[in-house]
Amino acid sequence: MVPRMTPNPAYDLSSVRRQIPQLANQIPMNACSQSPQSDRARRAADAYLDSWRTEGMDWEAWLTEVEAARASFARLIGGVPEDVAVAGSVSQATASVATGLDFSGRRHRIVVSAAEFPTVSQVWLAQNRLGAEVRRVEADGESIPLDRYAEAIDQSTLLVSAARAWFRNGWKQDTQAIAQLAHRHDALLFVDAYQALGTESFDAPSSGADFVASGNLKFLMGIPGIAFLWVRPGLAPLLHPAVTGWFGRKDPFAFDPERLDWADGARRLDLGTPPILEAYVARAGMDWLQEIGLSDVQAWTGELRRRLVEGGTERGLSVLAPEGGSDATPTTAFAVQDAHAVEQALRTRGVIASARGPAIRLAPHFYSTLDDVDQAIEALAEVAGRG
Ligand SMILES: Cc1ncc(COP(=O)(O)O)c(C=O)c1O
Repeated sequence: MVPRMTPNPAYDLSSVRRQIPQLANQIPMNACSQSPQSDRARRAADAYLDSWRTEGMDWEAWLTEVEAARASFARLIGGVPEDVAVAGSVSQATASVATGLDFSGRRHRIVVSAAEFPTVSQVWLAQNRLGAEVRRVEADGESIPLDRYAEAIDQSTLLVSAARAWFRNGWKQDTQAIAQLAHRHDALLFVDAYQALGTESFDAPSSGADFVASGNLKFLMGIPGIAFLWVRPGLAPLLHPAVTGWFGRKDPFAFDPERLDWADGARRLDLGTPPILEAYVARAGMDWLQEIGLSDVQAWTGELRRRLVEGGTERGLSVLAPEGGSDATPTTAFAVQDAHAVEQALRTRGVIASARGPAIRLAPHFYSTLDDVDQAIEALAEVAGRG
């Protein structure tokens, strides 16, 4: 028998780990909810706080930092800053797109996947009042068969909303195939990539998506309060969002209350004063991941997920994933009796997990070791009474 080599990431894992203090005494497995604080994130937040304390006010430097964060997100998804809007949350980015569309015509239907995070689905539902009709694409167990999209999309479809990865179980949708189905009927595709960005190389321009939204506190190693929206080049001028603000104007500093003009490109979807502290921290996380290399992160987190699935299955835990395996983020879900009690019990053992509905999610990331995964699974099996 050929012995199986113990895999290692292509980057220096010990150096990465030294930059995340929490790893000294805990095993964070909650990157699908909030990733741990890195020294880089801390330094970035301090840079803003120091600037505020010493300068009192430095709008030029602060807005430059927002632009740097916009540019970092653009690079992360293979786009350019002109096609990226800065938002405060994915909910708000979705609302900017939603209120920019016209539902008054024959093309008024929004096809929404069952894999959407509730907030995205709720924003689409709120457009009912403006003439939109939401059609839901139901899941079959832990995934959504492509033919369900094919059945749901037709000439009345204005937009399809399909998350890149399902927050519940990490299952990844084939956005390219969904885009083909949408575009065949001239419908747009909105992709919430929040649960996937930071774990894979994702190229927005070739993904087929017309819109890609994400916040930063999950696998992007950031904090709440900031999100980004990529808009396919040429599409932004067609949107006239009812959710807008002075930073969406050609020149915010013209201070003209009488004029509603629109900034070029995706900037027309910017709103009010941007999230400044959040931009500092968001850039630190996104730059770090890009320096390490998203394809190497993807390869390593793929190993971690395999180990989680194997380890869980060996211990009799029930893994919530599509039959036969499929493309997934590192987020791995296990069916448990009382997910919140399990989350608490794991915390007392130093494992930080994330409960969602009937499942506990273990989400390792680029900083995790195989040993972390083994210990987390061991603790889960013990807590769930299968140890
Ligand atoms: C896939 C996904 N989209 C959106 C959200 C929430 O977005 P926001 O709170 O930024 O509106 C989450 C989780 O918080 C999520 O997992």
